[in-house]
Amino acid sequence: MPGAIYAEGLVKTFGKVRALDGVDLDVPEGTVLGLLGPNGAGKTTAVRCLTTLLRPDRGRAVVAGIDVLEKPNEVRRSIGLSGQFAAVDEYLTGRENLQMVGRLYQMRGRDAKARAVELLEQFGLADAADRPARTYSGGMRRRLDLAAALVVSPPVMFMDEPTTGLDPRNRQQLWEVIKQLVSGGTTLLLTTQYLEEADHLAHDICVVDHGRVIARGTSDELKARTGGERVEVVVHDRGHVAAAAGVLRGFGTGDTGVDEHTRRLTVPVTGGARLLAEVIRELDARGIEIDDIGLRRPTLDDVFISLTGHAAETRDGTGEDDGTGRDDATGGSGRTAGAGGSGQDDRAAAGVRGRRTKEAAQ
Ligand SMILES: Nc1ncnc2c1ncn2[C@@H]1O[C@H](COP(=O)(O)OP(=O)(O)OP(=O)(O)O)[C@@H](O)[C@H]1O
Ligand SMILES: [Mg+2]
Repeated sequence: MPGAIYAEGLVKTFGKVRALDGVDLDVPEGTVLGLLGPNGAGKTTAVRCLTTLLRPDRGRAVVAGIDVLEKPNEVRRSIGLSGQFAAVDEYLTGRENLQMVGRLYQMRGRDAKARAVELLEQFGLADAADRPARTYSGGMRRRLDLAAALVVSPPVMFMDEPTTGLDPRNRQQLWEVIKQLVSGGTTLLLTTQYLEEADHLAHDICVVDHGRVIARGTSDELKARTGGERVEVVVHDRGHVAAAAGVLRGFGTGDTGVDEHTRRLTVPVTGGARLLAEVIRELDARGIEIDDIGLRRPTLDDVFISLTGHAAETRDGTGEDDGTGRDDATGGSGRTAGAGGSGQDDRAAAGVRGRRTKEAAQ
């Protein structure tokens, strides 16, 4: 039986750009899928196809057991979406934004009010609750947008880069909120450019590049393929780079990366801090002076390098609109049915909830 979010062979082209080039996904109910990829990989396009905002050229998608292309309106009733760019009404206060979403979902006034209070508290916005959203910082808007996506608790949620632009503390808090949500049974697809985030939150990870899934698995499986942690060393003297590489090779579980110019060497290891101490002793014993040394977790780049042999390339700005102007199923308005809409694509994407949308794309 397909999962709560299921896609098969999704293809979407914009002019010459194949934003999605045959994507298959299957997210079991009550789990989190992390869609991980660099700029332009196709993450937002996938989210928009799955949330009825964009009609794929080919393929099939089923969300919450409902066919996305056949019954987009029913799908919308079962999902929540927080788009890549916050779609809040600038002129309403934080509290009013949340209450309005509740009312759009036919909550009783009293319930909408109570839910707004709860969410403002949960997202650290209680102090700013009665200020217009236009006075909010970027991170506050982001949090308000996420809170709005959670006013009612839909069984399936989509979050497109939910923590981009949040400071570390707010990022942590949001992770907690997401964990709570999922422990309550919600199925979640989230996109991110941070392996660490996918690692924290996602049961399964799909790495996308150029519109294709290039790897999938649990975070541990991907890390095993990527080589887990890395020791990174910057040697003081360029003349010592080769000798240091020799030392690292002795400790590494994979190839040693060497950047002569910055005198930086990197090698995948297992063994953590204990091993780091050994590396330092060995370098010291050979008289190799170091400017910096540390243990770090693999980044998205490391994953890409190990999967594709090259660093993650950004593919933004190369797209062309197909000129039909019909890609947006819903026009340019935001969550608030136009009140704050700027016409920007992702504002529309962010506005699935609480909006009286037209039928999905033709
Ligand atoms: N409406 C559009 N018209 C033309 N090209 C588009 C459109 N939407 C997306 N593209 C192109 O499709 C490709 C995938 O874009 P998408 O927004 O899905 O990437 P992403 O993985 O979400 O990137 P980011 O991390 O920057 O948000 C890019 O090359 C982009 O320029
Ligand atoms: Mg995106």
